[in-house]
Amino acid sequence: MPSFKVADLDPNTQYKLLTGTVTPRPIALVTTLGTSGPNAAPFSFFNVLGSDPMMIMFSSGPRDGAAKDTLANIRECPEFVVHIVSYAIKDKMNVCATDYPIGVNEIAEAGFTQLPSSLVRPPRIAEAPIAMECKLIKSVEVGNKPHTLIIGQIVYLHYHEGIVNERFHIDIGKVDPRGRMAGAGGYVRATDRFEMPRLKYQGTRSGG
Ligand SMILES: Cc1cc2nc3c(=O)[nH]c(=O)nc-3n(C[C@H](O)[C@H](O)[C@H](O)COP(=O)(O)O)c2cc1C
Repeated sequence: MPSFKVADLDPNTQYKLLTGTVTPRPIALVTTLGTSGPNAAPFSFFNVLGSDPMMIMFSSGPRDGAAKDTLANIRECPEFVVHIVSYAIKDKMNVCATDYPIGVNEIAEAGFTQLPSSLVRPPRIAEAPIAMECKLIKSVEVGNKPHTLIIGQIVYLHYHEGIVNERFHIDIGKVDPRGRMAGAGGYVRATDRFEMPRLKYQGTRSGG
């Protein structure tokens, strides 16, 4: 059974093993606003953090030793919008991952429709099934390169029609999210779903 002492692995191998091991990852398509205008980019080092208040987190790695435009913008304007990437917008999302120089509006480059947000300054993307307006709680630099962990509090939620019912349940089939797998072009679609109820402990827990 292959086993690895991580300290013996070079950073590239660590990246390959990490991104191949933790799959599928949700994809955050993040819009931000800086002095050079709006920006959009996808991030799969992304997840939820807690629900009271609603918090999410994603991390941005460095590019050529400097902050990516998303992070640079969040440092200027500590607000952002996280969009869930559906299968329908996969190609437009891919355009947003292009290493454009700062000042290029990927929302327009990709052919997305830009809408004003309700409580934050960065715009949101109309074609995304879900948009979460966020205010920055904290950013933390970690690692050797470093990566920056960005923690946001969700202050406004937008859903396409038919996704949320009156009991606040989400119809995931209508969201049709796309997940990130390993490799340059590896993705997955959530089309093979099943349900498994949680088990209840039948014994007596100590202390009641
Ligand atoms: C599906 C996908 C997921 C990505 N996830 C990340 C990520 O988690 N962290 C990161 O730093 N870059 C990630 N990237 C690369 C960035 O999207 C890319 O560097 C982008 O150009 C950054 O844009 P910006 O400079 O406008 O912020 C990802 C790219 C794709 C296509």
